[in-house]
Amino acid sequence: MTRIDGKNGAGEETLIKKDTVIIKLDRDDPDPEKIAYCAEVIKRGGLVCFPTETVYGLGASAFDPEAVKNIFKAKGRPSDNPLIVHIDDLDKLSLVMSGDGRQAERLELLAERYWPGPLTMIAGRDPAVPDAVSCGLPTVGIRMPDNLIARELIRVSGVPIAAPSANLSGKPSPSTAGHVIQDLFGRVDVIIDGGDCSVGVESTVLDITGDVPAILRPGAVTLENVIEVLGKGELPDWKKASKEGEKPRSPGMKYTHYSPDAEVRIYDGGDIGDVRKKIAEEGVKALKAGVKTGVLTTKEGTHAYEGRGLTVISCGTREDLLTVTHGLYGALRDFDAEGVELVLAEAFPQTGVGNAVMNRLYRAAGGCVIDVDKREA
Ligand code: TXA
Ligand code: MG
Repeated sequence: MTRIDGKNGAGEETLIKKDTVIIKLDRDDPDPEKIAYCAEVIKRGGLVCFPTETVYGLGASAFDPEAVKNIFKAKGRPSDNPLIVHIDDLDKLSLVMSGDGRQAERLELLAERYWPGPLTMIAGRDPAVPDAVSCGLPTVGIRMPDNLIARELIRVSGVPIAAPSANLSGKPSPSTAGHVIQDLFGRVDVIIDGGDCSVGVESTVLDITGDVPAILRPGAVTLENVIEVLGKGELPDWKKASKEGEKPRSPGMKYTHYSPDAEVRIYDGGDIGDVRKKIAEEGVKALKAGVKTGVLTTKEGTHAYEGRGLTVISCGTREDLLTVTHGLYGALRDFDAEGVELVLAEAFPQTGVGNAVMNRLYRAAGGCVIDVDKREA
């Protein structure tokens, strides 16, 4: 039974009421019968949420335009933000991609190194991929996820699976099945519980169609990684790309994504000690003003905020920023669960994977960055 009873910000229909089945699967050895059940749902045009190594995806057959439209409705996603198509094997590539020789060569080189893995490549779209997937763009985003459940689901379904992150539009992406259940229970047919996502933030989106391959969304595969394989690459300023009024190359960049309910402010500056001091001061001020205040830090920083009544959450260690990508979205959701109204977050260096962390934090904060080095006049 399906019921439409909502509208998103763009005035488009949203919220599909469905009886959702939750299916637990072992990521190293998924039960073939359960996979077959989920694949049937995909083949029938249904919606299945599944784990990947980045975040959970909300999937439907990429070749079924009606099912693809239902993805947008279930998420409340604006209809001009294209979806990534997931494949389990390079033999499905020719079904979705029709790029020129240069694109094919780049894709092959990068796939050899990073597929399956957290890298989406934007290439020419084969006309067989419905407009609904790419929102009419001549290109399509393609990824082969490094998660056995995801790849088995695609393989047994027999079709590429179009899937955005399995969150309600505007909420932080889900890195656990619990997050998916919070957002999409009652809106999809199946939620597969396959445990935590190891990377925890979305894939790197790399446009391989232009002269210089360009990262449209930073992720665990870094600019340095791309340059090492292709000899060139660029990471255009994503702060600029997310500003209103500029036409972004990746439509998703223009939406305020990854927002928890709490207001988020990032504190940046040369010295992490100064940043922590400032956050502690500002945090105490906010508490005194009656605002329930949290601090987003790492295990190295928690001691700096103890004993003040602040809600302190560590999202990993600065020694390995992949622990921070892993913990970031869960931490943002935890602040909401604790009823925190204001989150003061430590900044991270914008190099390597740090770009992925700062990109998500920046957008969670709606661009609010406070430079602690700047003396107030
Ligand atoms: O890690 C991930 O990529 C996850 C998992 C489920 O694979 N998926 C994901 O999808 O993050 P989504 O829809 O939340 O983000 C896709 C991003 C959006 O910013 C979208 O605008 C961009 O990729 N994108 C998709 N197709 C594109 C295209 N043809 N051209 C430019 N940008 C595109
Ligand atoms: Mg998303």
